[in-house]
Amino acid sequence: MMQLSDGIIYYPSYFQRNEQEKLLEEVRSVVSQAPLYVPAMPKTGKPMSVRMTNCGTLGWVTDRDRGYRYQHEHPVTGRPWPAIPAVLLDLWHSIAGYEKPPEACLINFYADDARMGLHQDKDEQDLDAPVLSVSLGNSCLFRIGGTQRSSPTSSIKLASGDVIVLGGAGRLCFHGVDRIYPATSNLLKNGGRINLTLRRVT
Ligand code: SIN
Ligand code: FE2
Repeated sequence: MMQLSDGIIYYPSYFQRNEQEKLLEEVRSVVSQAPLYVPAMPKTGKPMSVRMTNCGTLGWVTDRDRGYRYQHEHPVTGRPWPAIPAVLLDLWHSIAGYEKPPEACLINFYADDARMGLHQDKDEQDLDAPVLSVSLGNSCLFRIGGTQRSSPTSSIKLASGDVIVLGGAGRLCFHGVDRIYPATSNLLKNGGRINLTLRRVT
């Protein structure tokens, strides 16, 4: 465990390979019930390069007309999101330092050419709870800044099984994924990266 800056805690290799495989099975089960879909940016409708789905009582979604929000149903199937797997609830209870359980687990799938621009996670009403992030599959270059878009940033390579906590003074830090490093893990047979983020919303 290592503190990257105030409130930003990095747990390299939190999950061992066999645990990553179990987690991946759980993700596959969620995706079979709540398929990955193409999110779109608010207003412009520009498609994001990541594919998304969620589990939990709430899921984070975005589309052109209604923008960033949490909702109880999958935007394509209209069905409630599947439950958050126990292994992720256990993770939250082990390291979040927050009594109430997470309500949302956003699942981002990055193909090897996908990325995510610098942003803040600020669609949650509860900003006292941390955001927990789990990486699976190929490594990525993760950029972390401060609470202003113009704050200086630093970058860290996140590998399969790594966990990052954005809490406290780091909760509203800008962050993003600049690139995926192809063929850095054999966890996902067809390459790419999966990121799971657990959040308390209400
Ligand atoms: C996110 O900020 O939603 C994703 C971060 C990541 O993929 O590591
Ligand atoms: Fe984020």
